[in-house]
Amino acid sequence: MASIIHLSILHILIFFVFCSCILHNTYVTSVSLETDKQTLIYLKTQTITQPPDALVTWDPNSSPCNWTRVSCDDRGQRVVGVDLSSLGISGQVSPHIGNLSFLTTLQLQDNRFQGIIPETIIGNPN
Ligand SMILES: *[C@@H]1O[C@H](CO)[C@@H](O)[C@H](O)[C@H]1NC(C)=O
Ligand SMILES: *[C@@H]1O[C@H](CO)[C@@H](O)[C@H](O)[C@H]1NC(C)=O
Repeated sequence: MASIIHLSILHILIFFVFCSCILHNTYVTSVSLETDKQTLIYLKTQTITQPPDALVTWDPNSSPCNWTRVSCDDRGQRVVGVDLSSLGISGQVSPHIGNLSFLTTLQLQDNRFQGIIPETIIGNPN
């Protein structure tokens, strides 16, 4: 009798650890992907492109992993690539790009950027 009770307590414990783990993962994922989305939306507001609707899929109501010129990791948890090439963009490269903390590929070629590449990008250990 005692061992049956022990077994079910153990089961309940395992169940709770398992559940909180799933909840935690879901929470962490949505918060970090949300951060990446906010950064990209901010960049979009600061960027004039040619054609003007080049980033029209960058809609806050959808996942950034579904946007054009954006790529995510295999699990769709973080933005890892942004391609802003050949969009006629002028002005400074935004230091906010450095907030995409899992970025491994950034394409900026064939634009009219001026000034220096911000330290927030160069200094990124990723
Ligand atoms: C992203 O695209 C997929 C496939 O088209 C779709 O099922 C999903 O609902 C989209 N997600 C968001 C948040 O837009
Ligand atoms: C993003 O980056 C900019 C410039 O590096 C910084 O000022 C800002 O605090 C960062 N964080 C957010 C959430 O925008």
